[in-house]
Amino acid sequence: MSAKPFHLAWFLQGSSVQAWGDAWTGNIGNEWMVPRFFVEMAQSLERAGFDYLLLEDSSYIGESYKQSRDIYLRNGLAVPRQDPSVVATLMVAATSRIGIVPTFATFAYPPYLLARLVATLDQVSSGRIGWNMVTGSSDYAARNFGLDGLPEHDLRYDMADEYMEVVNGLWDSWEPGAIVADRESGVLIDPTKVHAIDYAGKFYKSRGPLNSGPCPQGRPVIAQAGGSPRGRRFASQHGDTIVASVKSVAAMKEYRADIRARLVEHGRSADDCKVLFMADPILGDTDAVAQERKQLRDADTAAKVEQRLAFMSKITNIDFGAFDLDAPLTADVKTNGHQATLDEFRRKAGNKTLREAAAGYYTTDLVGTPDRVAGRMAEMMEEAGGDGFLFSMPNVTRRVVAEVTDGLIPALQKRGLVRESYSFPQFRQNLLEF
Ligand SMILES: Cc1cc2nc3c(=O)[nH]c(=O)nc-3n(C[C@H](O)[C@H](O)[C@H](O)COP(=O)(O)O)c2cc1C
Repeated sequence: MSAKPFHLAWFLQGSSVQAWGDAWTGNIGNEWMVPRFFVEMAQSLERAGFDYLLLEDSSYIGESYKQSRDIYLRNGLAVPRQDPSVVATLMVAATSRIGIVPTFATFAYPPYLLARLVATLDQVSSGRIGWNMVTGSSDYAARNFGLDGLPEHDLRYDMADEYMEVVNGLWDSWEPGAIVADRESGVLIDPTKVHAIDYAGKFYKSRGPLNSGPCPQGRPVIAQAGGSPRGRRFASQHGDTIVASVKSVAAMKEYRADIRARLVEHGRSADDCKVLFMADPILGDTDAVAQERKQLRDADTAAKVEQRLAFMSKITNIDFGAFDLDAPLTADVKTNGHQATLDEFRRKAGNKTLREAAAGYYTTDLVGTPDRVAGRMAEMMEEAGGDGFLFSMPNVTRRVVAEVTDGLIPALQKRGLVRESYSFPQFRQNLLEF
């Protein structure tokens, strides 16, 4: 590859019915339970050389919008939603190189359970598992687990620091070479290389060692998305890859420079963590066709303003249904949920009404033929610096996947911008290759 290549990943909105009611979704409303579409998607992305597929998750049904579950249930907004560990297992069984990154929230999994689950996934995938490490953002979810609510935003990250100490300790509780498997001596495991961790912190305790044995990668790849100042500190300390929702090139540049500086402050190399920016290109056979499709998508989004706001309500716990749609968002809304997403929504909204802001949320300037979009992506990476993109299409269908894997990717490959094949068997090795 001649130009500096970048990495690609895909953000799949949970193992859920995607794009309910849209064209090109086949019979997803009935077929979602046996997730062949997602398994086929993982295979397609692997064929196209993606670094990873990130499987988003939340473990509750939304009800922040108008204090009701109706809009979420009627329209299939992040519901029904399956447990990501099961779907991740099916995905790794059907692939051999791509990284699979299920999401598990720290409030929902005791650290030992998480360390064991993820180590097992890393083993059965021969070193291709990542963990989207989230602290959770909703009191509704917390109540499903016997809690009254989630701890306050920054405290969640303090707890998460400790959580990472426990799971890292557990993953390290098997020294390299602990599994001897020597038929002659009859020894399977060298007992001197397996250690208890006896961790007793302020929030968590665990004795160890991990009974599942070690991760082939040593530790799984850690993906993180904290965007607030406290979130960035956490992500740059622990993450192997950071996914960011900032959209403008200037904001991308600032974000990456900040993360790289923070990595160095933590004593890491600035290249140890790959920052991927969300992108949702609209492709077409010609530029005019792509523009027309953008107009159709914008019109569709305008019709679905309430659903868009319900989505924002779910991740911020703010009832956007209580505000006047035809007035700008009042200045003093605060969230104990996704702060960076709310900030980005407000930054983009400016003085627009809530209706206009919601309708315009998915505007993208990556519109055109595969070749045009590939060129623009190259320019963006050149200007922002950066390690790559995280595709985050609002509506995922087999058609959308094929447009990327069989249209856009070959155009990027022709320019030497993305890999044509995997160099290594394990996920982290490929992620750190360039
Ligand atoms: C691309 C992306 C993917 C995310 N995926 C999830 C997810 O699957 N589950 C979840 O609870 N939070 C998810 N989040 C939210 C983050 O984990 C984090 O809570 C959010 O970015 C807010 O962090 P901040 O308050 O530090 O800005 C995601 C965020 C981004 C930008």
